[in-house]
Amino acid sequence: MKRFLMLPLMLLTFILLSACSPANEQTPATDTSGQQENHEGDEENIPDIPTTGNNGQYLILFCSRTNNTERLAQQIQSQLDCDILEVQPAQPYEEDYNAMLNRAQEELAAILQGNYPPISTSMDNFDKYDFIFVGYPIWYGSMATPMQTFLHEHASKLAGKHIALFATSGSSGISTSVNEAAKLCPESEILSSTLLLTSSQLSEMDSRVTSWLEQLNIQTANNNNMEKNQIRLAANGKSFTATLVENSSTEALKARLSQGNINIQMNDYGDMEKVGSLGFSLPRNDQQTTTGPGDLILYQGNSFVIYYDTNSWNFTRLGKIDGVSTREQVLDLLDGKGEVTVTLSLK
Ligand SMILES: Cc1cc2nc3c(=O)[nH]c(=O)nc-3n(C[C@H](O)[C@H](O)[C@H](O)COP(=O)(O)O)c2cc1C
Repeated sequence: MKRFLMLPLMLLTFILLSACSPANEQTPATDTSGQQENHEGDEENIPDIPTTGNNGQYLILFCSRTNNTERLAQQIQSQLDCDILEVQPAQPYEEDYNAMLNRAQEELAAILQGNYPPISTSMDNFDKYDFIFVGYPIWYGSMATPMQTFLHEHASKLAGKHIALFATSGSSGISTSVNEAAKLCPESEILSSTLLLTSSQLSEMDSRVTSWLEQLNIQTANNNNMEKNQIRLAANGKSFTATLVENSSTEALKARLSQGNINIQMNDYGDMEKVGSLGFSLPRNDQQTTTGPGDLILYQGNSFVIYYDTNSWNFTRLGKIDGVSTREQVLDLLDGKGEVTVTLSLK
């Protein structure tokens, strides 16, 4: 089909879909139950505090006008038992659907000119989070405007963080909004695995979230599977774990570890990492990667690197030390700066 016919047809499809689902539009806008009513002091720029779960290593940010994305966010939250925060526009969503369509079009056009519509949500820092889940409805093929503003305003604070995107739509895809997220947060790692539920898939929410989190190799509250992909590291009497990603490099590393522990003499480099020779080579799965504190990296196939700060390079991701998110935490585990011998073993 010719491209110029596809966009009007796509928009017609979602308008028809929305018109056919009055229940969706009759739902009162954004039920904030369970969320903090902390927008009163916005004029004074008081940062918001997420509603906390027991697993403080993950944060879910979402915006939602008719609750579809909110329900998806809550499903992820219930499986991870983690922190969650709703991003809200400064001016409440229009209740009238056509008025909302007009407003969204105007706001999306303004964003293209660099003018972001104001929001009433802000956060101080994201230091304690390894992973940040960012969810939004698709508007005219794009990320809904409140989330675009939030990412724009917090881009520097989100540098080095892993961001997992999820969205709901009538029928449109998520890929345009993935590109938007990458432009809005150029120094974050936008994960390639995303979750999109179109209106006909909302009923599969539970199972779709479970399999997505498995794909992301994220440990859920109900699924304490230690046999996952973990190894143990020890340095100067301190012992801690790391979760490996799944690739041929980590498979080969685990095969090596099954024959015995590996000792690596590591030194600081560039005030961002400790690096040491493995003494053998592993298969490489190099790709452009932005590191954060705790990331385990394979450099040129034979050097093992533990990052305590950010760097962008073409190398192989091996995994991440569990439960750390700051430079200080990683350096503390590794006994600060200076030479250290790190022992890798299977758990
Ligand atoms: C302003 C606006 C624009 C939309 N644009 C699209 C679109 O381009 N493609 C699509 O499939 N759905 C579109 N939709 C439908 C929403 O993406 C869909 O209903 C979504 O699940 C709403 O999420 P929410 O309930 O979290 O607000 C649009 C809805 C609105 C209000």
